[in-house]
Amino acid sequence: STLIIDAIATRKIPDTFLGAFFEEINHAGAGGLWAELVRNRGFEAGGSNVPSNIYPWSIIGDDSTILVSTDRTSSFERNKVALSMKVLCNESNPCPSGGVGISNPGYWGMNIEKGKKYKVVFYAKADGAINLNVSFVGTEKGEKLASNNIRSYKHNVTNWTRMEVIIEAKATNHNASLQITTSKSGFVWLDQVSAMPLDTYKGHGFRKDLFQMVADLKPKFFRFPGGCYVEGDYLRNAFRWKDTVGPWEERPGHYGDVWNYWSDDGFGFFEGLQLAEDLGALPVWVFNNGISHHDEVNTSAIAPFVHEALDGIEFARGSPESRWGSLRASMGHPKPFDLRIVAIGNEDCDKFNYKGNYLKFYDAIRRVYPDIQIISNCDGSENPLDHPADLYDFHIYTNAEDMFSKSTKFDNVSRYGPKAFVSEYAVWQDDAGNGTLLAAVAEAAFLIGLEKNSDIVSMVSYAPLFVNANDRKWTPDAIAFDSYRHYETPSYWVQCLFIPSSGATLLNSTLLSSSNKSLAASAIEYTNPANKKNYLRIKVVNFGDHTENLRIFVNGLDSKVQQSGSTKIVLTAPNVREENSFSEPKKIVPQHTSLEAASEDMNVILSPYSVTSFDLLI
Ligand code: AHR
Repeated sequence: STLIIDAIATRKIPDTFLGAFFEEINHAGAGGLWAELVRNRGFEAGGSNVPSNIYPWSIIGDDSTILVSTDRTSSFERNKVALSMKVLCNESNPCPSGGVGISNPGYWGMNIEKGKKYKVVFYAKADGAINLNVSFVGTEKGEKLASNNIRSYKHNVTNWTRMEVIIEAKATNHNASLQITTSKSGFVWLDQVSAMPLDTYKGHGFRKDLFQMVADLKPKFFRFPGGCYVEGDYLRNAFRWKDTVGPWEERPGHYGDVWNYWSDDGFGFFEGLQLAEDLGALPVWVFNNGISHHDEVNTSAIAPFVHEALDGIEFARGSPESRWGSLRASMGHPKPFDLRIVAIGNEDCDKFNYKGNYLKFYDAIRRVYPDIQIISNCDGSENPLDHPADLYDFHIYTNAEDMFSKSTKFDNVSRYGPKAFVSEYAVWQDDAGNGTLLAAVAEAAFLIGLEKNSDIVSMVSYAPLFVNANDRKWTPDAIAFDSYRHYETPSYWVQCLFIPSSGATLLNSTLLSSSNKSLAASAIEYTNPANKKNYLRIKVVNFGDHTENLRIFVNGLDSKVQQSGSTKIVLTAPNVREENSFSEPKKIVPQHTSLEAASEDMNVILSPYSVTSFDLLI
């Protein structure tokens, strides 16, 4: 086969081409990127019911030494549930050594590291003085990793009082628990217990290693917070931004009924905007449009949801003097966030009220914020949209063969009308496992097709981004992690090959191949920001099970290709079903080598099931 590249510029690929989609799924935020160690910190997981579901808290002691219940005495109006402990042990009924109390294992174990500091905050009141021990202990053997006492001495703490302690770990344990214990008899109430490592990205609360993995993708946009998570199975469980902002202690939390877990909403609307800013990405806010998986608000009654969305935009980008902008300012961000793109709902086009509701949101947002780009859920790739929009959402989850074939999906789509935002794509199910090479190779071909059609495909992001391997709600995902480890799936590495594409120049490329239908290729010209040098990046996918010989011929270059400084990156593996894992995190990673044979006319060899990127220095 021969690949002919025409080095004369065709057009610029959008600056926002490659981005990231973050959904609160698989504990991406709660128990993942959001570094909070305590799970169910307000004992609220059962909602406002009493007794509430205090899982995963457990009780230290037995019925003869401690009685634990929940009541509605919290000082926080939006989350009234508090935990009450009646400590029964005393001199005649001695407490176990270490006392009695409660223990929280976080999200499948807390990662406590020697020499690191942790801030523990909680609210307490008692029927007298307080004498509590706060400690991190190894969950299996109970060894103390860090500990501190909080005492009020002779002062009674009969009103809710904020307690804060910073403790330094003396040992490392990746599966630790937080314990709050006492040996003093009487009543103690606890509420809003938080434990955060001091060492988070810029102190913004993001787990540093996971932040870095997203940052390394150099996403140009950041779509959040879902996905189905935004919709909810039922509206009562949908993500509603107003419940996720302001002081963390006052956030009610909510049960995400699509992915089936409680979230304390430490990672809320503000944190999503902050994360986008920290990543240098444009936020793309997806809000609920009055539609969940199973219930809908009629268009005639949608006004409160429209106001909620407008208020959300004001929160993000209103002046610090505005009603909602002032709340953002009080949270430490007086400067408006750069919110320019919003999506009205997620995957709701076929719902009864979608179009009616959509138009209400669209008109209101256009009127108040004419510069904001608005995304419709309806697929404009098959038929023109029957409603106004700047972009339309396109989602695809399919098998590898079909994903490969979709590299031509946008070739014949109309060049008029709103542009596509491919905000979710992935090979899934059998072909994908938890992240196979096969899936990644097919996705690379799909991305090549998007790149070539980037005159009508503005933005693209893989989905889902994260999975806590202890609770895989959806697989595969780009990044897998647990309390202290992480690894990239091949699909992550494929995205990395497209990082230079955002803002690059697309070149014409033609594959001349009589019979081989398993190749896909594209070419761009870009400037490497690290050394300011210009490169051609030629990406070729071989989706076949045979080695391929390919002649690459570059036409019309002003200067010669330089051999020294030209490189080759190959992503492949001996077996298409291979995956990375915690035990073998680097099994499938891009292999970088120098390209000695770099030239305008070169013969290259493509391994079976591989993605190869040729970077020619020009
Ligand atoms: O990415 C996982 C889910 O797939 C998203 O929540 C939803 O938008 C899609 O159905």
